[in-house]
Amino acid sequence: MSASKYSGPVLASLDIGSSAVKLVMSHVTLNEKNETKIEVTGVGLVPNSGIKQGVVVNIEATTECIRRAKEEAELMSGSKVSEVWVSVSGSHIQSFDSKGMVAVKNKEVNQQDIDRVIEAAKAIMIPADRMVLHVLPREFKIDQQDGITDPIGMMGVRLEANVHIVTASQSAISNLTKCIEKAGLRVAGLVMDQVAVTKSVISSDEKNLGVCVADIGGGASKMVYLINGSVAHTSMVPVGGMHFTHDVAVGLRTPQVSAEILKKKHGCALATLVDEHESIEVDGVGGRKSRTVPRKELAHILEARAEEVLNMIAHDIKMSGLQPLLGSGLVITGGSSQLDGLIEMGEFIFDLPLRRGYPALVGGLKDVVKGGEFATAIGLLFHALETKKDYYAQMPQDLSTTSLLGEAMSDSIGDVASKMKKFFTDLF
Ligand SMILES: Nc1ncnc2c1ncn2[C@@H]1O[C@H](COP(=O)(O)OP(=O)(O)OP(=O)(O)O)[C@@H](O)[C@H]1O
Ligand SMILES: [Mg+2]
Repeated sequence: MSASKYSGPVLASLDIGSSAVKLVMSHVTLNEKNETKIEVTGVGLVPNSGIKQGVVVNIEATTECIRRAKEEAELMSGSKVSEVWVSVSGSHIQSFDSKGMVAVKNKEVNQQDIDRVIEAAKAIMIPADRMVLHVLPREFKIDQQDGITDPIGMMGVRLEANVHIVTASQSAISNLTKCIEKAGLRVAGLVMDQVAVTKSVISSDEKNLGVCVADIGGGASKMVYLINGSVAHTSMVPVGGMHFTHDVAVGLRTPQVSAEILKKKHGCALATLVDEHESIEVDGVGGRKSRTVPRKELAHILEARAEEVLNMIAHDIKMSGLQPLLGSGLVITGGSSQLDGLIEMGEFIFDLPLRRGYPALVGGLKDVVKGGEFATAIGLLFHALETKKDYYAQMPQDLSTTSLLGEAMSDSIGDVASKMKKFFTDLF
């Protein structure tokens, strides 16, 4: 294993998607201005068959995919990974709004008041088989004034908070954690898929103006609505890239593997964009000979499914009641958003500005993670950095290539042990 050229602690994310497991390893570095930067050092991408719409259906298969993704990423990076930030998705995830209210202790709102009001908003009955994944503040109200996003330092007597609470099934999370631990990794944090995506594909201007992000993945399409900079609603429709591939396999009578390649290489969501004279080579099933087929035929098959998915997303936007607040429109991301012609088709379907979203800029192996399928994994890294920003802002830069928690560190680095201890206490 070659030594990595980057120093700083390892920060890694794991996105267990229904078509592929992605493990991204990075190092966090500080520039002269003390700004943190993510340098991607290793990537593992392994096709997955043990997950169906975000839920583990085969522990052994999922564990094996995670283990292989870990090995691939470690080999590429030249360093070890022992803990990962993990994305969670699936129909077991539920979200709802809640409110909390407290008296401001010293007339001026401070961080403790905010923590208390969020605690108060969290104080609701959650069934024993569910766990709280996130409490996302939407807006604060001080006395009669509402619409406050950052109340610190403001004067008042009564502080109220509107929050969006995300819960997950305890058993679905236990199964996911079990696979990760069996693969030799620890969970540093669990983050809802849609929350992670918002950290990587949209700008803060878009967030403030109101935007919907649709992550069109392999097994499902997941939506998140950001209004005034915070998550207002999340939802999911159970259609993704696998359905496109299945349609191609059936429609062109070709094996799934060949259908997947054809879709990615020659696919187009709008048949009118394809030249009449273009043709493609299609493998036969069960040893039958390959055939030459017009590329338009492939486009016609994909067009029907693309129209269905985009119409389902349009229906979801309508039902959310948030369309008038989406000043920045819709951003599509995820592996399947890369299908050619999808934006052109979307322009007919959505009454909103539409664009493709790619993972935010990182350093290192940026070309490996620039596709929409890495939106969640890269978003997880940004989320982890944001959550632990105090730690990273003052981290020593000579931590070598070891993980923040897992690997033994050099004794010569004086205050690292105490920083690790603080980080450990913060986490659990
Ligand atoms: N260029 C492309 N054109 C069309 N589809 C593509 C392209 N590249 C990738 N895909 C599709 O993207 C899907 C994988 O996307 P992604 O990695 O975002 O899904 P996932 O995270 O594994 O699934 P999920 O989020 O639903 O659990 C696959 O179905 C793949 O065929
Ligand atoms: Mg995904």
